[in-house]
Amino acid sequence: MLQSKILILTICAAGIGGTFQYGYNISIINAPTSYIQMFMNETWLERTGVPLESNMILLLWSFTVSAYPLGGLTGAVVAGPMAIMLGRKMSLLLNNVFVIIAAVLSGFSRMARSFEMIMLSRFFTGVNAGVSMNIQPMYLAESAPKKLRGAVALTSASFTALGLVLGQIVGLRELLGGEENWPFLLASNVVPALIQLTALPWFPESPRYLLIDRGDEESCISALQKLRGHSDLSAELEEMLAEQAAVKGQRAKNPWELLQTPALRWQLMSIVVLSSAMQLCGNDSMYFYAAYVFQEAGIPQDKIPYVVIGTGSCELITSVTLASLVFHWSLWLMACIFAYILSFGIGPAGVTGVLPTEVFDQMSRPAAYMICGSLLWFNLFLVGTAFPFIVKSLAHFCYIPFLVVCICTALYVGFFLPETKGKSFLEISEEFKKRNFKAQTHAVFYKGPEEIKSTML
Ligand SMILES: *[C@@H]1O[C@H](CO)[C@@H](O)[C@H](O)[C@H]1NC(C)=O
Repeated sequence: MLQSKILILTICAAGIGGTFQYGYNISIINAPTSYIQMFMNETWLERTGVPLESNMILLLWSFTVSAYPLGGLTGAVVAGPMAIMLGRKMSLLLNNVFVIIAAVLSGFSRMARSFEMIMLSRFFTGVNAGVSMNIQPMYLAESAPKKLRGAVALTSASFTALGLVLGQIVGLRELLGGEENWPFLLASNVVPALIQLTALPWFPESPRYLLIDRGDEESCISALQKLRGHSDLSAELEEMLAEQAAVKGQRAKNPWELLQTPALRWQLMSIVVLSSAMQLCGNDSMYFYAAYVFQEAGIPQDKIPYVVIGTGSCELITSVTLASLVFHWSLWLMACIFAYILSFGIGPAGVTGVLPTEVFDQMSRPAAYMICGSLLWFNLFLVGTAFPFIVKSLAHFCYIPFLVVCICTALYVGFFLPETKGKSFLEISEEFKKRNFKAQTHAVFYKGPEEIKSTML
């Protein structure tokens, strides 16, 4: 299906240090929970002469867990300016610095007798994930040919799932999950970072970024040639030039400007709904507490890690299958619900990554990802905090609220979101323009950039 080897390799190079890390770092914190809690207790005892009470330990632990989504929120906010100023590829490369800092902090935390270093490390890990969750789908969707754009950006979800599963496997007691090994387990996220640092520089920057943001036609053509091999590039180049002409004289928008543009109302609404739903489906936060949920379900303690790997694998299989299928929004969401019921847990993760690229133009895209990413991380934080209480109060029905969110989202998508598959970015924005200005008399007085653009063309 994918003709170009370079495109596949680009996907892998971007994915391994990108959304792979998001999944990996969510799941590796699961295995060493009790060891790190013991470490906190010990170090406190050494420092002050008194041990920590158990609810103080729980509090410190929840700080440690929530440092990750807080870092992610920070990452999502800096991702926008980074993507605009440094470019997509360079941002992904530089992003690895955060992981390296994090790995050093957690790797040496036991030696330094400091649990604060673990918290700080989780924060930096979160920043890395926040940046890559936003920039990687943007980079890949901008680099892919029109026909494959959805599928290529969906690979971000596959890499997340792959990260989840590998994190669970590495976290087994036989590997790095033993009592003595937790600093190495937490620092093991440096490996994918190093792989990306060696692999990604060989691949081209997003051609769209080069042409539309940088105005560098020559580099754009050479990047396209690398990505597409020897196929005919003229049609694609023409389309990009049309988009460049349409946004000429504009600079990249910030999130505030995005909120104030009526021409983008439906697009914005759609990404807000979907990116909130992604976390409110309870899918990712489930992995923070997977062991706990299965314990409540009465599965023997020593079998739990393997059951957890099972759920991760379900998600991996589903996301890989869907990424390689012909891709429709509605179909994907339907599949989500079934997968949800069957394996309790795949949210609209993939779609959320693709949608801002599909429905926003080059100038609005980074800002859209900032909004989308912030919501995503905020909700991960929210659901992550509420999850244990939901499990406690609803027991076996704890997935009902999440399921309701999933169904409502599917209905929204079914009724309100136009199909974007195989359309050019300009065609998609025309589609949304019809919705934004349908039956609105006051809209006549407003000429947004889209409006001006279409009168010019
Ligand atoms: C903390 O350490 C002390 C002393 O070793 C121990 O008595 C106590 O049970 C520990 N607290 C927890 C919650 O594990």
